[in-house]
Amino acid sequence: MSLELIEKEIQGCTNCGLAAGRTNIVFGVGNPKAKLMLIGEGPGKDEDLQGIPFVGAAGQLLDKILEAAEIKRQDVYIANIVKCRPPNNRVPSRKEAKACLPWLWQQLETIRPQIVVLLGSTALQNLIKPDAKITQMRGQWLESKSGIKIMPTYHPAALLRDPRRKKPVWEDFQQVRDEYKKLMNES
Ligand code: URA
Ligand code: SF4
Repeated sequence: MSLELIEKEIQGCTNCGLAAGRTNIVFGVGNPKAKLMLIGEGPGKDEDLQGIPFVGAAGQLLDKILEAAEIKRQDVYIANIVKCRPPNNRVPSRKEAKACLPWLWQQLETIRPQIVVLLGSTALQNLIKPDAKITQMRGQWLESKSGIKIMPTYHPAALLRDPRRKKPVWEDFQQVRDEYKKLMNES
């Protein structure tokens, strides 16, 4: 299925309680043929208002990180675990994440990225293991059954709260950059 069709289907979704508080569904943005996909947690205030992921303060930091890694934002695809903003930006519950994940699976099946970056604990726990610790798992490649290389790292919002996380995130993105460059040279 095409991303446009999936996005049409998601309109009006009330599969979880987050539907009540949203202004816009934040489906995802980027290259439908992206080799690299970034997955965050859920829309914040700015994202909810604009309907685009990672456009607020955390998004601006993400843009800087991508630029430093020589990765063009328009070449990748960016989405979140939940597509509607949780009240006061709280972490989405497991139930909400589970209700929304089928949309993300469809995005992954359509785009078929070869590298996936998990931005923060919510993405890691809902996609890999509910009790996974981002502090322990960041910086090391995981591989999905279908051979996707997965890099967990801290969420950019966590960097804004704690600048000590900048160095590890940059190390993680250097690994992503190297792998991404390899892919680009192969194709
Ligand atoms: N934080 C996220 O996890 N996703 C966004 O889109 C914005 C902020
Ligand atoms: Fe539907 Fe996801 Fe929004 Fe819940 S968060 S209403 S599952 S689109």
